[in-house]
Order: sequence, then structure tokens, then C-alpha cells
Amino acid sequence: MQDIIRQLEEKRAAAELGGGQARIDAQHAKGKLTARERLQLLLDEGSFEEWDMFVEHRCHDFDMDAQRVPGDGVVTGYGTINGRLVFVFSQDFTVFGGSLSETHAEKICKVMEHAMRVGAPLIGLNDSGGARIQEGVASLGGYADVFQKNVLASGVVPQLSVIMGPCAGGAVYSPAITDFVFMVKDSSYMFLTGPEVVKTVTHEEVTAEQLGGAITHSTRSGVADLALENDVEALLTTRRLVNFLPANNRSKPPVWPCEDPATREETSLDTLVPEDPAKPYDIKELILKLADEGDFFEIQPSYAQNMVVGFIRMEGSTVGVVANQPMVLAGCLDIGASIKGARFVRFCDAFNIPLLTLVDVPGFMPGTAQEYGGIIKHGAKLLYAYAEATVPKVTVITRKAYGGAYDVMSSKHLRGDVNFAWPSAEIAVMGPKGAVEIIFRKDAGDPAKIAARTEEYRAKFANPFIAGSRGFLDDVIMPRQTRARVCRSLSMLREKELKNPWRKHGNIPL
Ligand code: HXC
Repeated sequence: MQDIIRQLEEKRAAAELGGGQARIDAQHAKGKLTARERLQLLLDEGSFEEWDMFVEHRCHDFDMDAQRVPGDGVVTGYGTINGRLVFVFSQDFTVFGGSLSETHAEKICKVMEHAMRVGAPLIGLNDSGGARIQEGVASLGGYADVFQKNVLASGVVPQLSVIMGPCAGGAVYSPAITDFVFMVKDSSYMFLTGPEVVKTVTHEEVTAEQLGGAITHSTRSGVADLALENDVEALLTTRRLVNFLPANNRSKPPVWPCEDPATREETSLDTLVPEDPAKPYDIKELILKLADEGDFFEIQPSYAQNMVVGFIRMEGSTVGVVANQPMVLAGCLDIGASIKGARFVRFCDAFNIPLLTLVDVPGFMPGTAQEYGGIIKHGAKLLYAYAEATVPKVTVITRKAYGGAYDVMSSKHLRGDVNFAWPSAEIAVMGPKGAVEIIFRKDAGDPAKIAARTEEYRAKFANPFIAGSRGFLDDVIMPRQTRARVCRSLSMLREKELKNPWRKHGNIPL
């Protein structure tokens, strides 16, 4: 018995040491934490229950028999975040560069299966040189098994990926399927083919950071949702996000204690919208003033900034906010904004998170770049996402709601449950100037006539009352009372039930 206990202790110690002290030191020298240190920070203290610590690879080629590390380069199991269950895997770069072998993949698949079975989020900490080169196709099979599970888990449990080192080749597709991707600045990258291959094929000279670093993916490609300064910030931010999310698609978002009164009035909101309709203002000011305790978790803050999305709480309960940002491109909907909004709306709908839509949109972005890029198809994504969503939907039009963009942004016609407008709202086919230039083109040479017609148009449509008279709005509310009115609406909608017709799945314009 003593022997076997000693063996157990030795095996545990070997597993905990991963690829050895020298490689751990090298990992630290790069400013990175080890797989286990990361889990310690991510999970509540003492909550981690590790599985498969003794799993080893089955490869015999290339002297692999002599190189076996218990755990095989990935630490897996479950634990809690603020007392709530999550499943985790954390790739260990000190063991064969965190590369994915057949058994490494089996370990990941095991926690994914359990996450789905018991209905808890899955968090992957990625730090890997990709497919285990010595294993060849067995490793590729392992990747495909992980992808398949990612897809089956999509919309069933929240899946979060934190990229904390290399992530290259087809390996990027597992994070890409997950709901949120966070990257650590300077130490992580994601690309299909590295700088060397790029140079050979396209003759472009580019660094790994430029090609697939955290800044690139959080600002240009939209592949990553956030770029974090270091491992610690990335893990603490992951904890913060998990606090907003429900455990699975059958449960409601968590409700946290809230001291902030639902009836809190914000008089400053009465003057948020400038007198001049061409002047911008910061929609985030409104979001922060509506949120419980001003707490806003923004998703993709540096990508398609004309659209703001993220989570707040109202009366302690998670709400997904989608808002046009008048400060950037006047809040126009373009390709990036449409995709960003659509994906967020679909996440919220999949996980029972009510949607609050704040509208100030002058329309879709015109131009060849947008048309050639497929704004028709991408804009349709946002429309589709809102139209299929069955979660509670509350909309507040603060200023412009023009044209197709009015329809798209959670209008009454797309089953908006409660649609409010501020007195400053303008709901029309287009802005007064553009409208008059078209319908009174014959008067173009007469500035006085044009001015009079513009004024006439403005008086008729640049207000919320026509839409109100049709029942397209449920009420015109005082800006200062927005929090109270939205909270009351969400509370009324708490037990909302709405089902779409049966179908295998819809065909969202991808
Ligand atoms: C086996 C690997 C490995 C891999 C790294 N290692 N990648 N072992 N398979 N894929 C090992 C190294 O041999 C080394 O072992 C240790 O991990 C650390 O690697 P270094 O190269 O010393 O580290 P660093 O300089 O930081 O470079 C990291 C790296 C580089 C950029 C990731 O290792 C690299 O380019 N690796 C190969 C990447 C790759 O081509 N992977 C396959 C991609 S294709 P020792 O014993 O010296 O410590 C792919 C397809 C997936 O992944 C398809 C899915 C559909």
C-alpha cells in the first residue's frame, strides 16, 4: 500500500511539474503563467477538481515512447466561478508545446461532454503549437472531434476561449466556433498560416503580431472580442463575464443582489441628445446610466465601434444591450456593425438574455465598399437575428430611426415587445434634407422653397408622434425615466413565452 501511495504521489508531482522546471521558467520569462497557475486564478480558490491527470499519449514513433508526461499537455476538469460550476481545459505549453495529441483531444472532449450533460459553461485556455506533429493524422482527428463537440455545444452551454499563446493552423477553428474569444496582448496570436507561409505565397512581409495578434483580431478582423494586457487581466475578465451568463440554454441568467433602485432618475439624460441633430453624443453615457451600478461589460469595444454591444444588469438580472453609437460614422449600420450586432443578438436569444436596443441610426452605410462587400447580406443578418429572437425585447429610440435601419433595430414590426421613444426621436424614411432633395427636386434652384419644405418635413416626421399614432411605439417617455420604464417592462416580460414554428434550423444569410 505504501508503495502504491508513493507511486501516486510521484505521478501527481510529475504531472504537476508538466514539462519540467526549465520550461516553466521559460514560460514565466515570456510573461506567461503556466496552465495550472492560470486555473488557480480563473477558478474559486480550492474549487478545481482535476480529471485525467494520468492520461498519457499513445504514440511510439520518433522516440515518443521515452517522452511521456502524465496529463499529456492539457489540464482538464471543473471548478466554480463565484460559486457557479464551470468546466475547463488549460493547455500546458511546457509539455510538447501544448500540442494536441489524440489523448489530449480526448481529455478536452470529455469535459465538453460533461459541460453539455450537466449544463455548465466551458472555458478553454489555449496555449498550443497545434497538432502534435509526431502523431500526424491521429492528431488531426482529435481536432475534428473537438470541433464537432464545439458545434454541438453551441447554443447549449456558453463556450469561452482565452488565447494565451500560439493558436495556429486549423486549431483556430475551435475558438472561432465558441461564443467569446479573449486574447492576451503580445503573447498570443491566431492565424491559419504563419508569417513564413504568407511571405512565400503572397510575398507580404508581416510579423506574427501584425498578422494575428490581439490588437489585429480585436480591431480589424473581429475574430477576438477583447484584447487583454496580460494573463491575469484575461482570467479576471473571464470571471467577470461568466458572472453575467446563464449556465445553459435552459436556465435564466443569474440574479445578483442589487442596491441600485429601479426607479432611479437621471436628469442629465434629458439633455443628452444635442439640439442640433447633426451633433454626436456618446451612447455609452446612456448605457452606463441605465445599468445597475453603472456596470457595463462591453463586447468588441474596439471593433465596428459604430455599434455598441455588451451586458449590463437591471434589477440584478443580465440584459444584452445593442446600441448605435452616434460618435462613430454617425451610428450608421455597416457590414462590421451588422455582423457584430447579429452575433450578439443571437447569443442573447440562445441563452435567454433579454435585449435592450438603443436606437439612433441614420440608416445603412452607402458606398461601393459596402455594396461590394455584401452589406445586403450582412445587414440581413441583423434583421434575421432580431426577427427570430424570442427573448424579451425592449427598444428605446433616442433620436434618429431612419429607413430600413428603423425596421431592423428591434422595431415593433420585428416583434419588439415594448418600444419606447424619447421626445427627441425622429422616425422617418430618411432625414428631412435628403427627403426634400428627392421629392422636391424640381425646387432645387429655390433655396427658400427647399428650406420651407424641409421645415414642413421636419415638423411632420422629425418627432415620435406619427409612429406613436400608429401604435409602432408603446409610449414616448422622459429620458430621465428610462431606467424605471425599461426595468418595469423587463419585469413585466419576465415570463414571456414565444415560439417560432418548428424547423430543423433557419437559413440565416451567412
Ligand atoms: C509537437 C511541438 C509542437 C507541435 C511545438 N512543439 N509545437 N511538439 N508538435 N506542433 C514543441 C517543440 O518541439 C519544443 O519542444 C516545445 O514544444 C516548445 O517549442 P519551441 O519551438 O521551442 O517554442 P517557441 O519558440 O515558443 O515556438 C512556439 C511555436 C513553434 C511557434 C508554436 O513551436 C512552432 O512553430 N511549432 C509548430 C507549429 C505547427 O506547425 N504546428 C502544426 C500546425 S498545423 P522542446 O522539447 O524543445 O521543449 C495544425 C493543424 C491543425 O495545427 C489542424 C486542425 C484541423
